[in-house]
Parts: sequence; C-alpha cells; structure tokens
Amino acid sequence: MRLKDKVAIITGAANGIGLTASEVFAREGAKVAMADFNIEQGENSAQILREQGYEVTFFQVNVVDRTSVDLMVEKVQALYGKIEILINNAGITKDAMLSKLSVEDFQAVLDVNLTGVFHCTQAVLPVMITNGKGKIINTSSVSGVYGNVGQTNYAATKAGVVGMTKTWAKELGRKGINVNAVAPGFIETGMTAKVPEKILDQMKQMVPLARLGKPEDIANAYLYLASDESNYVNGTVLHVDGGIMM
Ligand SMILES: NC(=O)c1ccc[n+]([C@@H]2O[C@H](COP(=O)([O-])OP(=O)(O)OC[C@H]3O[C@@H](n4cnc5c(N)ncnc54)[C@H](O)[C@@H]3O)[C@@H](O)[C@H]2O)c1
Repeated sequence: MRLKDKVAIITGAANGIGLTASEVFAREGAKVAMADFNIEQGENSAQILREQGYEVTFFQVNVVDRTSVDLMVEKVQALYGKIEILINNAGITKDAMLSKLSVEDFQAVLDVNLTGVFHCTQAVLPVMITNGKGKIINTSSVSGVYGNVGQTNYAATKAGVVGMTKTWAKELGRKGINVNAVAPGFIETGMTAKVPEKILDQMKQMVPLARLGKPEDIANAYLYLASDESNYVNGTVLHVDGGIMM
C-alpha cells in the first residue's frame, strides 16, 4: 500500500475527481477526510466508500469561508490526530466570454479556486510544520497554462495556483513539506458535462491520445505526488492531459 495509515484531506471530494481520488487513496491505505460543500452528496459518497471497507469520513466545508475551513481542519485533527496530505481539489467554473462575464462571476471563481486553496493550505500548515513533513497538491488546469476561450476567471485562478504552488514549494521545502500541482486536461466529470458535445469532440481531436481523461487519470497523479515515491519532487506542475500541451 502506497499511503498506509497516512491522513489525507481531499477537498471537493463529493464528486468527480475528488471522489475518485478518495477511493484511490483509501484503497492505498490512507484515512481520507472527504471535505466538500455539498453535504448530501458528500455524506452519500462517503457512506458508499465505507460500505466497501474504506476508512473515510465526510466533513462539510466551504473553502471560501476561513472559519469553516479552520473548523474542518480542527475536526480532522481531532479525529485522526495528524494531517499529512492536503489535496486542494475543490473548484468551480462560471464560463462566459470576456464581454459578457459579470464581476460577480469573475469574483466567485476567484473565491473558490484561488482564495479557497490559500485558506486550506494556510489552515493545515501549523500541523504539517509541527510534524516536520507534509504533501500539498494543488489542482491547476490546462486552461491556466494555455488560456481557454470563455474562461477568463477560471484560467486566471488556475494560473494563480501555479504561482502559489511554486512560491510555497520554495517557502516550505526546508520544513519538509513538498508542494506540487497537477494540471488536468479535459476530464470526464460533472464539470465537463456542462460543455456542449460539439466542443468536447473538438477537444478530443486536439488530444494526441484521442480521448478525454478519466477521473482515475488525475487521482493516480495525486497519488504519486502524495506518496513517498515523489519525495524529491517539489514545485512541479504535472501535466495530465493526454499530451494536449505539446
Ligand atoms: N473536469 C475537468 O475537465 C478539469 C480540468 C482541469 C482541472 N480540473 C479541476 O479539477 C478539480 C476537480 O474538478 P471536477 O471536474 O472533479 O469537478 P466537480 O464539479 O465534479 O467537483 C468539484 C467539487 O468541488 C466542490 N466544491 C465547489 N465549491 C466548493 C466550496 N466552496 N467548498 C467546498 N467544496 C466545493 C463541489 O461540491 C464538487 O463536489 C477542480 O479544481 C477543477 O477545476 C477539472
């Protein structure tokens, strides 16, 4: 088992990539704190995983709200006594062309995808520093590196995540904390289900592997960066996109 008895917080764990990552991590022996805003789906997803014998617990959190994040971290610490891995996976889109993008939708995406990552990371930091080790994995996107039509807000946040990742990798390396990011391409989840079929087909054609990614493709990248196999990897952005970035 690659994560035996490690305690991991995965945000956005009620659905999509975060849910698959929770299952993959638990299968590898981790105790997983599944943190999400969506209490109904989160509780339900955690229950299904527990019925399969996995050690997972759901914690409701709004990553935008610092008090909520601090409370979630306190509860995880109280239950498991340690936190070794943080996967900053929660994220949203509110797509519109620049000329039509409202200030509210611009800000809402910044609040979740950028400020939320800052809140969660700062909240777990004292625990990881006390332990003298930790793994923080942020979720960027091909859109943040390349830009994407209709995603001014989202691309800004995902580029910002790369900047924060590299900054934290430099600041925290000496404290035994590795900080890396995964930049997914287009992955089949609820997030891409909102994209029109025609656009998804165009995206597929751009990918050398000629398919969209699956949540497992990203969960496995999180797993590598959370495991001891990546102990000398720090400040990297792992592109998991079927080669679309070339
Ligand atoms: N699906 C893709 O093609 C793709 C591509 C690149 C990057 N990503 C990134 O991967 C991550 C996961 O995406 P996904 O496709 O699984 O999305 P998803 O919509 O399936 O799941 C996102 C989860 O985040 C949760 N969430 C949203 N706002 C929250 C908040 N304020 N507090 C706590 N939880 C909140 C939602 O409830 C949901 O369960 C995101 O950061 C996304 O930007 C996805």
